Amino acid sequence: MNYSQLSKEELQQIYDLQKAEYDNLVAQGYSVDIARGKPCNEQLDISMPMLTAEGIENMPKNYRNYGMLDGIPEMKKIFAQMLGVDQTEVIVGGSSSLNLMYDTIQRALQFGIMGSEPWNSQPVKFLCPVPGYDRHFAICEHFGIEMINIPMDGEGPNMDLVEQLVANDDTIKAIWCVPKYSNPTGITYSDKVVERLATMKTKAKDFRIFWDNAYVVHDLTDTPDVLANIMELCAKAGNQDRVYQFASTSKVTLAGSGVACIATSKNNVKDILSHMTMQTISYNKVWQYIHYLFLKDMTNIKEIMKQQRDIIKPKFDTLIQAFENAFGDDNGIVKWTNPNGGYFISVDVLDGCAKKVCDLCKKAGLTLTAAGAPFPYGRDVNDRTLRIAPTFTSDSDLVVATQILTCCIKLACAEKLIND
Ligand SMILES: Cc1ncc(COP(=O)(O)O)c(C=O)c1O
Repeated sequence: MNYSQLSKEELQQIYDLQKAEYDNLVAQGYSVDIARGKPCNEQLDISMPMLTAEGIENMPKNYRNYGMLDGIPEMKKIFAQMLGVDQTEVIVGGSSSLNLMYDTIQRALQFGIMGSEPWNSQPVKFLCPVPGYDRHFAICEHFGIEMINIPMDGEGPNMDLVEQLVANDDTIKAIWCVPKYSNPTGITYSDKVVERLATMKTKAKDFRIFWDNAYVVHDLTDTPDVLANIMELCAKAGNQDRVYQFASTSKVTLAGSGVACIATSKNNVKDILSHMTMQTISYNKVWQYIHYLFLKDMTNIKEIMKQQRDIIKPKFDTLIQAFENAFGDDNGIVKWTNPNGGYFISVDVLDGCAKKVCDLCKKAGLTLTAAGAPFPYGRDVNDRTLRIAPTFTSDSDLVVATQILTCCIKLACAEKLIND
């Protein structure tokens, strides 16, 4: 059924029907949360054997002591393989990549990069592909960095716009990118987009790409997306210092209790370490070693991720199937993504309806990520995009979530079309 082709009377009938169903759902007193992209308990159980630290007796004795600010070689090697970089280009940090991103921005603001003027010496702007990751935008807002929206399409950010902006404005210092299974659209940047990012001319000499590769091994299918190697492409183009790449094991082992890294050029590594050494003597090498014992190598990591996938893929399928059943393809009111990996489904409803859907869901006991959250300043000018995070919720709660969500979308959109 295509809602946009229905008469007001037909829409009113649908509205009445959905309102009755909605009232019934509200009366059930449900409480379900699909707001944050957290792993579920079954996923986290996979990593519990890590805590027995089998093989810990072989840990080099000096790992118990201060030192090795850039991390242990075993974990550097694992991240280097994961990200397709050289081991010398990796700094292994603490338990959060977001923390490393925050620190990287704060350093640049206060000290500049590799001898450049501190970013803070003039107003700073970041390019923000939208919809994007709310916590990236929160960091910018926190530091008073102006954010410029860049629309995403099926291949990544709109590169015509990116190239034009960075070529002409030296106060644009960076772009946020979640290049693989992007949060929340699930898009992986095309080879062409990655190449253009690597080769584009930037007016700011100290321009950086914040390449948040949070979902690098988080495939949901047997035919995973393949992301071009931006650091190789940058080096080839003579822009070897352009990328700060980030990753962590938050969604490989334990969320918030994993190991995180920065991968970047040797020049950047040196620059970062010169500041980091004032911040800490060394990160937790014992935990890094325990991770190494558990993760072993890329073959084993793929096996762990396969186990994760077996748990979460059915959750994605439940949601997508429910959307297909409730709306079908050409429905005129809602579109959703069916990602090959990552943690999210992105749903676009009729313009002007996202907030209303969120409010209706809330009253029926379903918490969604706040409408607007995937945009800088929480502002979705079209009031269109909803981010759905299916992984944490139990299978039975997910069925309830889909009932509430599809009902609320029909209700809000029918009402909008009736009143238009
Ligand atoms: C794109 C992206 N980057 C970073 C993070 C957080 O990573 P970490 O736990 O390593 O701080 C998340 C968590 O949802 C994410 O979606």
